[in-house]
Amino acid sequence: MLRIMSIAGARPNFMKLASIVRAVEQHNNASSEPGIKHIIVHTGQHYDQKMSDSFFIDLGIPNPDINLEVGSGSHASQTAEIMKRFEPVLLEECPDILLVVGDVNSTIACTLVAAKIEYPSNHKRRRPIIVHVEAGLRSFDRDMPEEVNRILADSISDLLFTTEEQCLSHLQREGVATEKVHFVGNVMIDTLMQHVKKAELSTIKEKLNIDKPYALVTLHRPSNVDRLETLQPLMDCLEQIAKLQQIVFPVHPRTKNSLQNFGLYQSLQNNTNIILAAPLGYLDFLKLIKDATVVITDSGGIQEETTVLKIPCVTLRENTERPVTVDVGTNYLIGTEPARIMEAVSAIIQGNGKQGDIPPLWDGHAGERIVQILLSSAL
Ligand code: UD1
Repeated sequence: MLRIMSIAGARPNFMKLASIVRAVEQHNNASSEPGIKHIIVHTGQHYDQKMSDSFFIDLGIPNPDINLEVGSGSHASQTAEIMKRFEPVLLEECPDILLVVGDVNSTIACTLVAAKIEYPSNHKRRRPIIVHVEAGLRSFDRDMPEEVNRILADSISDLLFTTEEQCLSHLQREGVATEKVHFVGNVMIDTLMQHVKKAELSTIKEKLNIDKPYALVTLHRPSNVDRLETLQPLMDCLEQIAKLQQIVFPVHPRTKNSLQNFGLYQSLQNNTNIILAAPLGYLDFLKLIKDATVVITDSGGIQEETTVLKIPCVTLRENTERPVTVDVGTNYLIGTEPARIMEAVSAIIQGNGKQGDIPPLWDGHAGERIVQILLSSAL
């Protein structure tokens, strides 16, 4: 029996894990062979009900077998704590494969432990095969913690699964052997396609009293929300947009902390055309994207989800590690200059947003491709 251990830690990981869980279950149901044993480890990087548990429920992911309960901390302490707590778990379970997704601190922490672990001598492997799902994305901005996590995780992984064709050339340039890389499509989109019908049943619009067209906003990148000089103009810009169209803004805990510390929260709350909400569950948020006129965000995954749902997305960043969403999809890479944001958002509200196409292999079957390759690689 093949033993796969998957790591999840922070909110965007859960949608990616859900695709792998489903593909493993499908394989096990269809196979007369012993099948795959899937062990799920949650690092506890995200721990609030709204940032974690609600995703497991919405996505039908089984409860994690192990929760490391690390919680929040500086980059160094969070990463180190995950590593310390994960090492004994890996030694106890000795899986054949360690599968990590995305680019959060949990991803690099567990990858690094696995690369140096030494299984007991009676085990058939010295260490697990390390598999990185969503490899090869590059923003070329090393001030982003996620970019550092991506580069490091890719450099010590044994099998790398990519979402965009360009990823291969990024990896080759960094010295990764071509035969380790497999272009399989996008597991996050697998999960979206799986749940989009169910999301229609969400009553979130009634719950939030949304009764007119709206722009959906999310912000959480440290570069946008951690400093007053950056956050204040962005909030002023939202107040300008709110004069054109209602805004729905589910606020990430990092962003809420900053808004409150800088005294910016009250003004948003007082604006009758801005609806502030707590972080939302997967199905509720999917419903809100689907019905939005425009999505304004600094998230990575939302650039992909809007592309597939054909909703124009205004990305408040200077770069993106997901260029296919701009070249093929509905994404506009706008930056944080208020005049540019207003120009892009106004054009979209007037009906001039791009339609876009669906990128290659974003067809709902990436998880199945991954599981097939894992089965043949781990023999
Ligand atoms: C992390 C990821 C980022 C991802 C984002 C999605 C890294 C380096 N960053 O950023 O790539 O896009 O998740 O949300 O891994 N907090 C809570 N409750 C929680 C979790 C966090 O209140 O359940 C608060 C804490 O104050 C914490 C802060 O949010 O200090 C930031 O959390 P952290 O996990 O450090 O980073 P994110 O900004 O969420």
